[in-house]
Parts: sequence; structure tokens; C-alpha cells
Amino acid sequence: MKTVSSIILIWMVTSTASYERGEEESCDEVKFVTREQWKARPPVRTTPMALPVSHIIIMHTCFGACDNTPLCKRNVKTIQDYHMDDKGWWDIAYSFLIGGDGRVYVGVGFHNVGEHTINYNDISIGVAFLGNFDYMIPTVEMLNATKELINCGIKNGYITPSAEIHGQRDATCTNSPGNNLYAEIKKWDNFIGGRLPLYHCCADHKKG
Ligand SMILES: *[C@@H]1O[C@H](CO)[C@@H](O)[C@H](O)[C@H]1NC(C)=O
Repeated sequence: MKTVSSIILIWMVTSTASYERGEEESCDEVKFVTREQWKARPPVRTTPMALPVSHIIIMHTCFGACDNTPLCKRNVKTIQDYHMDDKGWWDIAYSFLIGGDGRVYVGVGFHNVGEHTINYNDISIGVAFLGNFDYMIPTVEMLNATKELINCGIKNGYITPSAEIHGQRDATCTNSPGNNLYAEIKKWDNFIGGRLPLYHCCADHKKG
């Protein structure tokens, strides 16, 4: 009997995953690529996010730079496989990913807690640019897509209008989002640089 109820519980947790809610349908300005479109695996589990969030953390993936949609889709899927199979996480780590094609790839989305920034996962949306922005320059399209994504989140009540924008390096010991991308987000309204109160350094987050 215990086993049966555990199985039912697991089924309930996984089947209430809210990817079907479709943040991708709620904003015309954002060119979303849905999980279905990039052929995401279902999450092992999900944790619902308490919305609206008050922080947005910008990061880069280092690997997986792409300039066209078929390649971006493949790279996002490879990142999900890496996070689930090698890192042992429940899903792809990021809330959203920004492709060099100017599209927004739905990771765990607005409605679920990601696995990107220790101490900030349950209070922030993690937006990851595909590529290494110590070397690459973020395009106008990528920056625009990110701003429109944030506007979309605010419009739908998922992000507070006054939400603070940070680079991942402000929260943990990493060079992410890379010097070139960090230089761009510094110019944005609501950007707050410098070490965050819950800054945490751990071996697992040193890379990037
Ligand atoms: C993004 O680009 C579109 C099309 O060029 C433009 O209309 C819009 O104002 C831009 N959004 C932002 C936030 O800059």
C-alpha cells in the first residue's frame, strides 16, 4: 500500500509540471521556442516558483553557441541532457535560454524553480545566453529578446516591475555572464551590480 501511494505521489508531482501553461503564448513580442519544439525530456520533478520574483539573474552557458534555430534547439537539448544525466538535476537548470537566433528557449519557465544560482534559485529567474561572452559579443537581437522576455514577465505578473537585474557573478564565484555581456546589462534600468547579500562560492559553481 505504501508503495502504491508513493507511486501515486510521484505521478502527481510530475504530472502537475506546469509547462503546459504556456508562457510562450502570452507575449507576441517574444519569439519563444517551447519545450515541445526543442524536444525537451520531461522533468524528473518540479518545484513551483512563488511568483512574482524580485530578481533576474543573467548568465551564459559557455558551451552551445548557435546562430540558427535548428542548431540552438540541438544545443539546448544537449545542455538538458548534461544537466540531468551528468549533474543529476531534475531538469535543465535555467528558466530561459537566449539563442543567437534571437529566440527565447523555454527552460523551466516562469512557473518552476531552476537550478542555476545557489541561494537565488527560488527567488529569481535565471536567463542564460547560449555561448561564451568573454569572447563573443551579444547581438542586439539577443539583448532585445531578453528585455522583451522581462517585459513579458512583468506584464503577466511573474516578475515585479522593480525586479533587480544582476549578473551571475554577483551571486556566485563565476565569471558568468562573461565580460562582454556583463558590460551590456550594466546599462539596463534596474541593474544592481556588486556582491549580493546571499553570495555563495562553491566548487560546483566555479566553472562558467
Ligand atoms: C525590440 O525590437 C523591436 C523590433 O525592432 C522593437 O520594436 C522593440 O522596441 C525592441 N524592444 C526593446 C525592449 O528594445
